[in-house]
Amino acid sequence: MNWFVVAAFALCVIAPGAHCADNTIAWCYNLPTCNDTTWPTIVAPFCNGTRQSPINIVTSNVTVDANLGAFTFVQYDNVSLFDKIENTGKTVKVGLNIGGKVSGGDLPEPYDSLQFHLHWGNGSTVPGSEHTVDGVQYAMELHIVNSKESLNRNTTLAVADSTGLAALGFFIEPVTDVSGQPASWRNLVAYLENIVIQNQTAKIASGISLDDLLFGVDRTKYWRYLGSLTTPSCNEAVVWTVFKDTIKVSKDLIDRFTTLRIGNSTSEHMVNVFRNVQPGQRVTTQATTTTSSTSKTGYSLGLMALSLVLGRS
Ligand SMILES: *[C@@H]1O[C@H](CO)[C@@H](O)[C@H](O)[C@H]1NC(C)=O
Ligand SMILES: *[C@@H]1O[C@H](CO)[C@@H](O)[C@H](O)[C@H]1NC(C)=O
Ligand SMILES: *[C@@H]1O[C@H](CO)[C@@H](O)[C@H](O)[C@H]1NC(C)=O
Ligand SMILES: *[C@@H]1O[C@H](CO)[C@@H](O)[C@H](O)[C@H]1NC(C)=O
Ligand SMILES: *[C@@H]1O[C@H](CO)[C@@H](O)[C@H](O)[C@H]1NC(C)=O
Ligand SMILES: *[C@@H]1O[C@H](CO)[C@@H](O)[C@H](O)[C@H]1NC(C)=O
Ligand SMILES: *[C@@H]1O[C@H](CO)[C@@H](O)[C@H](O)[C@H]1NC(C)=O
Ligand SMILES: *[C@@H]1O[C@H](CO)[C@@H](O)[C@H](O)[C@H]1NC(C)=O
Ligand SMILES: [Zn+2]
Repeated sequence: MNWFVVAAFALCVIAPGAHCADNTIAWCYNLPTCNDTTWPTIVAPFCNGTRQSPINIVTSNVTVDANLGAFTFVQYDNVSLFDKIENTGKTVKVGLNIGGKVSGGDLPEPYDSLQFHLHWGNGSTVPGSEHTVDGVQYAMELHIVNSKESLNRNTTLAVADSTGLAALGFFIEPVTDVSGQPASWRNLVAYLENIVIQNQTAKIASGISLDDLLFGVDRTKYWRYLGSLTTPSCNEAVVWTVFKDTIKVSKDLIDRFTTLRIGNSTSEHMVNVFRNVQPGQRVTTQATTTTSSTSKTGYSLGLMALSLVLGRS
């Protein structure tokens, strides 16, 4: 049922709102006529810009920025922050109630947390993260979208500001020896059966927080670069933070995302919903985590001390 995607109008996945003035642009992930190779043409100029996302993070090319300190998360522990979950036809999106914020982490000001959504491949065996690390693509990627507090959640203004949005990216890796884990993800995934068809929404009951979903991630270790929305109209308005630790989710839960449909119940499964990587950018990270790959070994302390010194030079 490929025609359906061609006919479908763009939904502004990452920053829904008034900026999606041109709602008539048809774009898709998986058809030659509208896949990501066509976006620069069908939504020029932004998708043809010079700081496009996602990117492959080349760890040997990452430089240290001593300003990349810890974040402060407000209401990420609030179990009533999630509003509605929606099948947009391009992703699964969860709107957040007012009150969630992220600051610190060398962001220019506090940002309001607006929504989160996901990107995936085809089940737990065909990866579908957007960012890659040294060429490795993960199973899924979670994006929490935040806009500058001073812009009062006005996404038109946010996408017109080169740092108007702050996106937090988390890789999701499958775990095979358990099922239904962690409980927070089991709880979230349970809603998917209510939103199989495009435009269906379900109210999320109290009980899951953002902290619960970010289970196991050390949020002081991340990569930073300036990029764009990864969906049309690809506005270059995003301060990207990609966390190094992954969220471990059991394989059975990851597999459930492919039950969603891009249109109605008779149309295609929602698979491979990610943009391919774009040209590299300047990526920075913390001084203390430049040796993260060895941080669990006995000799890592010396290396970390060395990187601290270099970070200050
Ligand atoms: C994307 O579209 C281009 C042509 O527009 C085509 O060459 C390419 O094979 C397509 N890729 C996928 C994954 O469909
Ligand atoms: C994209 O930008 C490049 C470099 O400026 C240019 O050569 C190319 O024609 C542009 N493509 C589109 C579709 O605008
Ligand atoms: C949690 O979020 C709900 C919904 O926005 C809000 O009513 C409540 O006051 C928040 N709780 C706290 C402790 O901030
Ligand atoms: C996704 O995986 C399923 C089950 O393995 C397979 O039947 C289907 O063809 C795959 N879809 C794509 C687009 O690769
Ligand atoms: C966002 O800001 C623009 C420009 O100031 C304004 O025209 C628009 O009405 C605002 N949108 C909302 C939803 O407030
Ligand atoms: C849903 O699927 C049926 C059967 O393929 C089709 O006739 C109908 O037009 C579809 N509806 C939408 C909204 O795409
Ligand atoms: C979802 O909404 C969009 C925009 O209104 C519409 O084009 C599309 O057909 C809807 N999808 C279904 C399955 O009804
Ligand atoms: C390496 O970093 C430079 C700038 O710091 C950037 O221009 C270049 O694209 C990066 N290369 C890769 C392969 O990511
Ligand atoms: Zn995204």
